[in-house]
Amino acid sequence: MTLDGKIASYTGESSISSEKDKKRVHALRSSVDAVIVGSNTVLVDDPRLDVRYVEGKDPLKVVVDSVLKIPLGSRLVTLFPEKLVIACTQKANKEKAEELKKRGVTLLFCGDGEHVDLPLLFEKLYQMGVRRALVEGGGELNWHLLKHALIHEIQLTIAPFIVGGRNAKTPVEGEGFPKIREGFKLKLASVDTQDDEVVLRYFVIY
Ligand SMILES: NC(=O)c1ccc[n+]([C@@H]2O[C@H](COP(=O)([O-])OP(=O)(O)OC[C@H]3O[C@@H](n4cnc5c(N)ncnc54)[C@H](OP(=O)(O)O)[C@@H]3O)[C@@H](O)[C@H]2O)c1
Repeated sequence: MTLDGKIASYTGESSISSEKDKKRVHALRSSVDAVIVGSNTVLVDDPRLDVRYVEGKDPLKVVVDSVLKIPLGSRLVTLFPEKLVIACTQKANKEKAEELKKRGVTLLFCGDGEHVDLPLLFEKLYQMGVRRALVEGGGELNWHLLKHALIHEIQLTIAPFIVGGRNAKTPVEGEGFPKIREGFKLKLASVDTQDDEVVLRYFVIY
């Protein structure tokens, strides 16, 4: 995020990371079994979620996308269908589900509610052999995962920019807590610097 706590500008543009931080994140990606993002991040950023800045294995890419909004032309679908897992609900469009399956994408149906049942998704990922997963946002998904006590560690790079914007996204969105002391509690694990950036690592205490 930027120093003023934004993970994208008010237009949704989010190229915040330095080359050094991209290398750090790509090394982290190659150390996990799956990288997870919310559907809105795919719509706005069209990410690849692969390992390019360092040598290493490419993890599964998981999109939490209740009704399959992901465009068939998105890079995840066109470049890595065999490594792509989309978590959706029973309310997802059946034709789009079939089309994605035809392209080699794995679909995980997680409940029949309005949004993906996240604990069920994590259970299904565990059954697929996923032991360590890295969530790369966005803010809405981060909030709901924290609410379900599914996040154990947080790594946050503070980049030397201030972009403002009252509607610019922050690392954790959702409805929030009314009182600060009701918020999630954290324990600082480490503080590192890389040029003008600070990399913070916290454990979440539930
Ligand atoms: N700087 C960074 O590190 C970074 C990283 C990632 C993203 N970003 C930025 O963040 C912005 C996107 O963040 P965002 O907060 O708008 O969206 P998001 O967290 O990427 O995606 C949220 C969407 O996920 C879907 N979802 C499905 N099941 C869910 C559940 N159980 N709980 C929560 N969400 C669920 C919901 O849509 P459906 O239910 O309809 O599927 C929801 O609208 C973009 O501007 C992107 O550039 C920045």
